[in-house]
This record gives sequence, structure tokens and C-alpha cells, in this order.
Amino acid sequence: MARFKRHVLICENERAEGHPRGSCARGGSAELTEVFKEELRKRGMATRFRANKSGCLDACEFGPVVVVYPDAVWYGGVTVDDVVEIIESHIIGGQPVERLIIKDKRFLQEFE
Ligand code: FES
Repeated sequence: MARFKRHVLICENERAEGHPRGSCARGGSAELTEVFKEELRKRGMATRFRANKSGCLDACEFGPVVVVYPDAVWYGGVTVDDVVEIIESHIIGGQPVERLIIKDKRFLQEFE
């Protein structure tokens, strides 16, 4: 049995100002992590669903980036205003938030 039903990783990698690849931290991802954690706590869901900061997820051009496992759903351009929708629709409800999914085949492929 899995330790967590769903695990949310939020990239908090930070690069120097002006770096050509940019970084999720410069898009406010640290606040994103805190809001994910707080919203899960408020719902009493923090033991079933987990949100953790991560290093670079190699999707920098789509940042701030959030990935949800085991579904392997990649979200890009996520803001704090999107967190409740992601939690309620996807994390708890199992229905990914289509409008935030990164529409690039590298992040849509399925593994066997
Ligand atoms: S800096 Fe966030 S995915 Fe690379």
C-alpha cells in the first residue's frame, strides 16, 4: 500500500536573476508550497496527501511547475490562486485540472 495516495512536488529551484532558463522560485513557488501544505492541513488531509518542495524538475520553461504522482500529471504556470482547485479537483477528487496541464508531449507520455 502506498504511503500517500497522491504526492505533490513543487519545484522551488532558484537561479540567478536573468538566467536564460529562469526558475520556478522566481515565479513565487515557495509561497505555492506553503499554500498547498496549509490547504491540505486545513482539510485534515495532510497524512493522506503530501506536498513537498523539490529541486528543478527540468520543465523550467513552464514554471512554476507542480507534478502530481502517481498520476504523473504536470502543471505549469501555477499560481496560489490555482491551489484550491488542484487540491479539490485532482488531489482529492482524482480529476486533473485540464487548463493547467503542460501541453507538451514530453510531459504527456505514459510509461508502462
Ligand atoms: S526551475 Fe523549476 S522545473 Fe526547473
